Amino acid sequence: MADSTRTVIYLSPDGPVLKNISERYQPTGAQSLLRVDYSGINPADIKHASIGLHSSVAGYDMSGEVLETGPDSPFKPGDKIFGLNPTFPSRPLYMGAHQDYAIASSKFWYKLPAAGNLGLREAATLPVMTLTAADGLFHLLGLGFPGAGIPGAASQALLIWGGASTVGLAALQLAKAAGHSPIFVTASAKNHGTLKALGADYCFDYRDADVVERIRKAIRDSGKPVSHALDAVGAGSMAVGDDFKKSSPGLTAASISEGQQSNVKLVCVLPVREDQRYKLCFATRDASSPLPMARMADPEAWDGMQAKVMDWVIENFGAGKYLGCPNITVVKGTEESLEAMRRSAEGKSSLEKIAVEHPL
Ligand SMILES: NC(=O)c1ccc[n+]([C@@H]2O[C@H](COP(=O)([O-])OP(=O)(O)OC[C@H]3O[C@@H](n4cnc5c(N)ncnc54)[C@H](OP(=O)(O)O)[C@@H]3O)[C@@H](O)[C@H]2O)c1
Repeated sequence: MADSTRTVIYLSPDGPVLKNISERYQPTGAQSLLRVDYSGINPADIKHASIGLHSSVAGYDMSGEVLETGPDSPFKPGDKIFGLNPTFPSRPLYMGAHQDYAIASSKFWYKLPAAGNLGLREAATLPVMTLTAADGLFHLLGLGFPGAGIPGAASQALLIWGGASTVGLAALQLAKAAGHSPIFVTASAKNHGTLKALGADYCFDYRDADVVERIRKAIRDSGKPVSHALDAVGAGSMAVGDDFKKSSPGLTAASISEGQQSNVKLVCVLPVREDQRYKLCFATRDASSPLPMARMADPEAWDGMQAKVMDWVIENFGAGKYLGCPNITVVKGTEESLEAMRRSAEGKSSLEKIAVEHPL
């Protein structure tokens, strides 16, 4: 139980380790104690240690059943819920996902419908990818999503660099559902068929030496300029000595900037130092975040956007509308889970989301 000694996957400064804890988890205020059934793996589960976000139970995404609630919780015992607890301002042990009991302690938690296609396994993979893509598209790029009640620019052409990453998959399906077109994506050639089935109009292999020229030509041929782009991988511009022109943000910007340098809107999942036009998207944005760049630019206009997107996702989850990632790998046990976390952090997943089945 939540007060017995149990093993968790803990993120130490040097990476994930197993740790036995016996802290009693007691929900207060709006919190809910849950039995974790699945936790979803993200690259950040390990990568965050390199930016000082460690010494806590690893993992963000999770789903499970509510066991106990604080007096102001929106949930009740027996509810099936999913969501994530953000990184800031602090991360007590009870917030991490890769453990058998946790406390839902943020506004980023949602109740699973009693009927429908969305199960606990799929739900545990959705929050980070979906909320990050939503922040990029409907907050930072200012695109509209009429079906979810989100105002903004209608029917825009869009480039998604890294369409087979989980954030890219979410962005593609949300943009399609929101009525934006044509949608240009980059991915390995083996993933083009799946991405077209999910809504991509044009696919390009990012490894082709002339990929920028190919995208520019396709944009010209489409007859509609592309002013919005989301780089869903942020590859090749973080390390000292990286050549920005060859990085994914450099290639993304070059692909859509032809003849309209200042007119484009660019968003990336990682910070881009070399191009001031880029904005950084966040899975969990909040008006009161202690991290200035994770605050909302316009809280009034933006407030509730993430909740509206998740409401739409819960209602429309299923083939032809929103699938999250169509390939979910389930791992069991601590060793398999640790190995899967390392694989994800090393960028070795391709069009795949990994869910840890609990108990660990
Ligand atoms: N800011 C935030 O709040 C936030 C939130 C979530 C994620 N992130 C960051 O966003 C990145 C992506 O996360 P994720 O979970 O979506 O990753 P992921 O699914 O594990 O990414 C793997 C995919 O990236 C694609 N890829 C790798 N290098 C590429 C390149 N140069 N060009 C195009 N595609 C490339 C691969 O596509 P192919 O298989 O087709 O080759 C692969 O499918 C990570 O760095 C993560 O830390 C940030």
